[in-house]
Amino acid sequence: MKTFENFLTALDAGILTVSFNRPQALNAMNAESVREFGEIVDLVETDPAIRVVILTGAGPKSFVAGADISRMQSFGAFEAREFMLAGQKVLFRIEQSAKPYLAAINGYALGGGLEIAMACDLRYAADTATMGQPEIFLGITPGWGGTQRLTRLVGKGIAKEMVFTGERITAQRACDLGLVNAVFPKDQLLEEVAKVARKLVALPRDTMKMAKHAIETGYDMTNTEANLFETAICGLCFGQDEQREWMKKFLNK
Ligand code: CAA
Repeated sequence: MKTFENFLTALDAGILTVSFNRPQALNAMNAESVREFGEIVDLVETDPAIRVVILTGAGPKSFVAGADISRMQSFGAFEAREFMLAGQKVLFRIEQSAKPYLAAINGYALGGGLEIAMACDLRYAADTATMGQPEIFLGITPGWGGTQRLTRLVGKGIAKEMVFTGERITAQRACDLGLVNAVFPKDQLLEEVAKVARKLVALPRDTMKMAKHAIETGYDMTNTEANLFETAICGLCFGQDEQREWMKKFLNK
């Protein structure tokens, strides 16, 4: 894979690990990193060697400390809107991706950092990580989905508490709220997330793609529509190589 100014990438046995890498700003995202992030997400879609993606932060302290405040300071309304839209477009592509994204939250996941993690399919955190939507302290609201994905993940009451107060929560509290799937000791985080990734690589690729599609697309439908959509997705799996192979394997033990 090509090299990037603001990211490190490593591909091993179908698992692409992408590290946000702007250590001078705790991996905060400027317009150039948003552009590069979009490029990586596009590459993931087209490279059949990539089965699962892990997002994490380079360095010991931070996943992503949000959008780059020094760059945002001078934004006008339209420029800010473009920047927010550019980030949101990348996050939509992650949700619509055919491949699973896992966030390994190794430290601060604040503002845009938490918003990136929330667009991933699965989230795991180091026991030392903290998360929050501190935009209120900057006189702005979240702009990369924090008012929406957070609300859907933890409910209105907790989302409002986090967005109104801007206070950070611990990894354990995030896990209790269902915001992260599990918490691991900091030095074991990447290996534990890699274990999950390896499990996913060994499972039927197209079926997982369809499962993600059913969950993501069904989420915005009415309950009846979503369940009917699910029947169509499940029906589509039948007759595919993976269904024949995996059912045969079960029946043959
Ligand atoms: N943007 C730009 N620079 C940042 C940054 C950010 N979001 N977060 C940290 N940095 C920089 C600091 O300015 C500092 O730079 P210098 O060494 O040049 O002074 C460096 O990273 C280290 O940071 P600290 O010295 O502050 O480290 P700390 O450990 O004392 O504190 C922190 C860490 C709690 C994360 C603190 O840096 C902080 O509060 N950062 C801002 C977090 C934030 O508000 N994020 C939301 C941004 S808005 C957003 O994301 C909108 C959206 O929805 C997309």
